[in-house]
Amino acid sequence: MELFDTHAHYNDDAFDVDRDALLSSLPEHGVALALCPGCDLPSSRACVALAEQYQHIYAAVGFHPENLEGASLEDLAQIEALAAHPKVKAIGEIGLDYYWEKDDARRQNQRTFFAAQLELAERLDLPVIVHDREAHKDCLDIVRAHSGVTGVYHCYSGSLEDAKVLVKLGWMISFTGAVTFKNARRALEVIDWLPLDRIMVETDAPYMAPTPFRGKRNDSTYVYRVAETIAQRKGMDTDAVARATMENGLRFFRIAHQ
Ligand code: NI
Repeated sequence: MELFDTHAHYNDDAFDVDRDALLSSLPEHGVALALCPGCDLPSSRACVALAEQYQHIYAAVGFHPENLEGASLEDLAQIEALAAHPKVKAIGEIGLDYYWEKDDARRQNQRTFFAAQLELAERLDLPVIVHDREAHKDCLDIVRAHSGVTGVYHCYSGSLEDAKVLVKLGWMISFTGAVTFKNARRALEVIDWLPLDRIMVETDAPYMAPTPFRGKRNDSTYVYRVAETIAQRKGMDTDAVARATMENGLRFFRIAHQ
């Protein structure tokens, strides 16, 4: 089985103790590819450096909605410069997070950065990786207002109705180990409906470890649990889901693998 973990934060401190050993060993654990998304300038640079170091690692660059403290729109020029690297395959992760942000002015700033980064992605002809936490309506409104960009909603937590809109717009939806949790009913409903060619799998490592590893540090070697859950829901075998989600990832991120 060859899996593509489309979202793993390998720049995170949680990997300082064993990053090289872990990343070097991913292919022998069935993880052929992983994509590391940035959350601000330092982490975006770190993701590009990892992508440069490891053939099977790719990167995305951008400002996460929770990392806007002290950031200005001028900083997007540096995101643009990083995006010129051939292993940068998307602008991300970008989006809205109203769970952690309750302040109206700062929520407005999140929307401003999100829109500006969608415009940057359109100009650079790159897809985007979107984080949407408890901001479903505003997030979808901004996405709809930027019809020249396609992307993926990562760690999908929205409704089936919104998923149908996203699929119509040509977007992808990706799932983490959260689909293995007891309260995953809504995400499973989306998986049941979602066409196989729109699904990607991810860990969101070091967070969101799937059961039975919940609470541990997550890494790409657990991404098979997401593929297994999707396979179970769709009555397919896990290998077929691995193949489909690999193809989807390669197509979406425009990666010519091997
Ligand atoms: Ni993430």
